[in-house]
Amino acid sequence: MIRSRIAGTGSYLPPRIVTNDELAQRIDTSDAWIQERTGIKQRHIAEASQTSSDLALQASRRALEAAALKAADIDLIVVATSTPDFVFPSTACLLQAKLGVKGCPAFDVQAVCSGFVYGLGIADNFIRAGTHQRALVVGAEVFSRILDWNDRGTCVLFGDGAGAVVLAAAERPGVHATVLHADGSQAGILSVPGNVSGGRIVGSPFLQMQGNQVFKFAVKALDEVTRETVAAAGMTLEDIDWLIPHQANVRILEATAKRLGLPRERLVVTVDHHANTSAASVPLALDEFVRAGKIRPGHRVMLQGVGGGFTWGASLVTM
Ligand SMILES: CC(C)(COP(=O)(O)OP(=O)(O)OC[C@H]1O[C@@H](n2cnc3c(N)ncnc32)[C@H](O)[C@@H]1OP(=O)(O)O)[C@@H](O)C(=O)NCCC(=O)NCCS
Repeated sequence: MIRSRIAGTGSYLPPRIVTNDELAQRIDTSDAWIQERTGIKQRHIAEASQTSSDLALQASRRALEAAALKAADIDLIVVATSTPDFVFPSTACLLQAKLGVKGCPAFDVQAVCSGFVYGLGIADNFIRAGTHQRALVVGAEVFSRILDWNDRGTCVLFGDGAGAVVLAAAERPGVHATVLHADGSQAGILSVPGNVSGGRIVGSPFLQMQGNQVFKFAVKALDEVTRETVAAAGMTLEDIDWLIPHQANVRILEATAKRLGLPRERLVVTVDHHANTSAASVPLALDEFVRAGKIRPGHRVMLQGVGGGFTWGASLVTM
């Protein structure tokens, strides 16, 4: 049976760093409040000229290099983003052109902060079906563009960035199991409830959130989907070497690890220096720990996504 494995990882963060103290000069907040409630110390913010496809391009080049492949070797491109360059064409098509290739299918996945795990599950199924052999799966966001920078309850939480993996056909997994869920009845607790119509923005172009409800929903959803995923893979929680939850808030991450009975040393935390980069957060964290030599070949990694929709999911992967 054909399976898929991660052949290379890459990521990119725009160079400009915005600290909590810098935010506190503009809005009524403090470094102490942000760190205590979220664990976030800083975030990277894209230049006005940088789009999601630009960030995706840098992350993709690094993932291709790590996999020792060229862009022309890729036969499927999936980009998870909620901050696309345009209404259309998709960011995946723009990325394909920037990579200098054409022909292979390229499309975006819109599952907000679960987008990368959704994209990984989709690409894994393409490869298992035998129709595609080498997929580029990217999470890329310029969330800074959809934040109300006067709303201290939301703007302090997010940042920009991109992460990518090359998923390649293999004889052994790789991706053991991916479980995905959504509950559209919870759409109102985290949303950007606007669109472009008749040449105008209708509704709001800014992120809105019921923080407490999101927090509770996220911890429960991540716990449940992780248990489902290990069961689907025929494994147990003890088989997990690293837990990489969507990097939303260090309190959510620690609560999730605790509920699952996993020690703090196995929890990957990058939210302190990346903040919440939505669909980019999981591949960014994965790449950072791979390049640091902490996540090594053979390690079992549980990737978890949760976010607007509401959507959530998890994927258990042997590196
Ligand atoms: C957003 C979040 C950090 C707020 O923490 P909280 O402990 O729930 O705080 P509350 O929203 O109850 O607000 C407490 C007080 O802090 C204030 N506050 C909110 N943001 C603040 C900020 N940046 N700086 C200072 N004070 C702030 C509130 O106005 C409120 O003041 P009040 O009591 O005078 O009304 C928390 O709910 C959270 O992390 N939720 C999940 C968010 C998330 O991860 N979203 C993305 C998921 S994909």
